[in-house]
Amino acid sequence: MNGRVFSGAQPTGTLHIGNYFGAIRNWAALQEDHECVYCIVDYHAITIEVDPNVLRAASRSMALDLIACGIDPERSILFVQSAVPEHTELAWILGTVTSYGDLTRMTQFKDKSAGRKFVSAGLFTYPVLQAADILLYRATGVPVGKDQVQHLELSRRIARRFNSRYGELFPEPEPIVPKKGARIMSLADPSIKMSKSAGEAHYIGVMEDESSIRKKIRSAVTDVGLKPGSEMSPGVENLFEILELATAEGGDPTIVRELREEFEAGKLLYSRLKDAVFEELIRIIRPIQQRRAEVAQSGKIEEILEEGAMRARELARPTIAEVRKRVGLG
Ligand code: TYM
Repeated sequence: MNGRVFSGAQPTGTLHIGNYFGAIRNWAALQEDHECVYCIVDYHAITIEVDPNVLRAASRSMALDLIACGIDPERSILFVQSAVPEHTELAWILGTVTSYGDLTRMTQFKDKSAGRKFVSAGLFTYPVLQAADILLYRATGVPVGKDQVQHLELSRRIARRFNSRYGELFPEPEPIVPKKGARIMSLADPSIKMSKSAGEAHYIGVMEDESSIRKKIRSAVTDVGLKPGSEMSPGVENLFEILELATAEGGDPTIVRELREEFEAGKLLYSRLKDAVFEELIRIIRPIQQRRAEVAQSGKIEEILEEGAMRARELARPTIAEVRKRVGLG
């Protein structure tokens, strides 16, 4: 085993291919030679108002998605964050070694708070809870997409400040970011990252049905003209990236080479590129969808999450006990 990794995903109801290529694929791969702790972060999700019934169902649904994508609850610890309240206790304590100035520089906070009537204090202190998630398990690696790298830098600063004030306890966690797929862009607007919050047209769900995926890919933004040797527009680049990522999972990479050559020669028909993206995506998504249906049918998800929470708590309790002692609490 090469140390412990931790990562989390918000229970937004469903995973999109940005989550999958940017993070979840790595979550699955790391299970081979790491001790893995994976968390569905519902405490994070409530920083923006969400219907309680929707949230509870979304957490279960996310667990099913993750298992379908290859997270094995026997090998990894898979659990819902709020079942381990030590996360919030540590977050409070870490908040006292977090610089207010650092929090004001978080770009995700700026993005998520922009245009909102009500901005919660929880949304502002969100990265402190994220640091607590990781440090609670003294994880050394954190598989994430590019958008989380800034939060990870802050987690390291928080660990350093705690260690220097109270004595060495937390390792500084390193982000594990894939070379390709770390930032998949929206199909409808390739200047922003793929996310659910931007709206239906902007993302492809891993569990979405084929006809809807086909429609979204067909209407993906590209550009108007092609001249030999012209620069690739962001939309076309994003489609090529998705195609490459999908073919890398057991597909035939010659199609990517061919299409790239056609592009270079100024002869590529974007409809051909889009068809290839669709075919390759469906090839990898189809078995994931089948697996999800099987896991959902087995009716074991509650049991799996309970067991995961129990195992997570066993790791979390000694850390919290040590933190309380060092800080002089209790
Ligand atoms: P979340 O739920 O937004 O996303 C889950 C993972 O998917 C990655 N991701 C992407 N990767 C590539 N392209 C995209 N368009 C894209 N969109 C999302 C994210 O980088 C992430 O790895 N704050 C975190 C959840 C969290 C967490 C943690 C992560 C809470 N505590 C501790 C790591 C460690 C978030 O909102 O991810």
